[in-house]
Order: sequence, then C-alpha cells, then structure tokens
Amino acid sequence: MRNKIMELANLIKSAKHVVVLTGAGMDTESNIPDFRSENGWWKNIDPRQVASIDTFYENYPLFHEFYSMRLKLLEDCKPHEGHYILAELEEKGLINTILTQNVSRLQAIAGSKKIYELHGNIRTFRCNHCNHPTDPIEYLEKKNCKHCGKKALRPNVTLFGEILPRNAWDQTIIEVEKSDVFIAIGTSLEVSPVNQIPKLSKGKTVYINDEIGEKGYDFDLVVKGKAKKVLRELHNLLKG
Ligand code: APR
Repeated sequence: MRNKIMELANLIKSAKHVVVLTGAGMDTESNIPDFRSENGWWKNIDPRQVASIDTFYENYPLFHEFYSMRLKLLEDCKPHEGHYILAELEEKGLINTILTQNVSRLQAIAGSKKIYELHGNIRTFRCNHCNHPTDPIEYLEKKNCKHCGKKALRPNVTLFGEILPRNAWDQTIIEVEKSDVFIAIGTSLEVSPVNQIPKLSKGKTVYINDEIGEKGYDFDLVVKGKAKKVLRELHNLLKG
C-alpha cells in the first residue's frame, strides 16, 4: 500500500486541480454507520421504506423516526484525523474541492471550506410544504410547521426519489471536468448519479476504499485501506 500512497502523493504534488469525492466510508471511523457494509444501515432496512419521498408522504411517523434516530446519533460524533487532513490539504492548496455524499457535515466541521453536499445535510431542516426553514428541535419534537401549520418538517437531505441539489450538481460537473486528479474515498459508488462522476474526470482517477471489487478497474490508481490510515500516510508523505 505504501508505494501506492507514494504514487498518490506525487500525483497530488504535481496536480493543478484536485477534486475529492467522499462517501459514508469517510465517516465510519467517526462511529457513523455506512450503508452497504456489514454493519451498514441498509443491511437490515430497505432504504426506500424509510429514506424516500414516498415514505415522507405515506408514512411520516416512520420517516420521522428514522431521521430523528440518525440525527441523535450524530450528537456524539466528531470528525476524525482523516477529515482534518483533508481540510489541511485544502488550506495548503493541495486539494481544491470536496464533493460529499455524506449528510453529517463532519468534513465542514473539520474545517474544509469548498464543499458541495450532493445529498444535502441532516443538520438543517425545512417544511416540505412551504419550504420555511426550521430548527432540529422543532423537528425532533414532531412540531407542525410554524409558518404554514402543516406536519411536514424534514431534514434537508436528498431523499430517494428526489433530484440532487441543482447548484451542487452543476458545480460538481464544472469542478470534475477541471480536475487533473480525482480521488474517491470511502464510497461503494452504488448510487447514481454520483457514481457517474468519476467517469467525467479527464485526469488521473484514484479510488481509496477498504473494499475494492470490480469498481477498481475504472480507476488509474487503487488504494485498498481504511480512509484514516491512508490519509495519515499520505499526509506524512506530503509534509516531508
Ligand atoms: N475506510 C475506507 N473505506 C470504508 C471505510 C473506511 N473506514 N468504512 C467503510 N468503507 C467503505 C465500504 O466498504 C463501502 O464500500 O465505504 C463504502 C461505503 O459505501 P456505502 O455504504 O454504499 O456509502 P456511500 O457510497 O456513501 O452511499 C452513497 O447511498 O444510501 C445512499 O444517501 C446514501 O449517500 C449515500 C449513498
């Protein structure tokens, strides 16, 4: 693995525009389950049963319970060393943009500035009927919207059956097409349209994940390993 991380460090050092795509595997070492690994959310739950816009309309109590549970779980979760390393690499100008599928905002809390949240975030809420912003407490307490009175409060996450936030997607295309190095970290690349993003890069593509499988064939460089460990070794090589 060390040789591959050295190759990655050299790619980053000579790059002009580095874009990083993160997935739930970037948050597991902060004790947030991912979705499709052994202990992932979707191992025992059908996502379309709890995380879709249909469930929001057809079974609000179930929808509300699932996202309340995920929000409460975040209370004790903090960014890990890997999040801080990505933020530091941005500050040093070694990476330019983070695209994330994660809704935890741990990467922003770690200090990254240029982030596009492709699946929204679970930290802010709105009324699905009138779009009026609301706060987590109102949502957790199952309150009706203060503005229109409807029982329609929801997190600002992209639900199954919804389109991705327009600006985040448009900016993503611009950033990836500009990139000469594109790095995907901690994602199964199972969910479209995000899993099409690596193909848009005209530069060198890198996949860092603890399970590789056939997705690895689509990348120029594959590093099999835990995100925190790989980023720590990369950081040491870039510091040197
Ligand atoms: N280091 C490296 N890789 C890891 C780590 C880790 N510490 N922990 C988990 N992984 C890998 C898993 O092996 C898996 O391949 O990260 C990947 C996470 O994949 P998913 O659980 O499918 O998560 P993600 O790719 O982010 O899912 C995309 O699916 O359900 C939707 O909205 C949800 O944003 C999510 C989207």
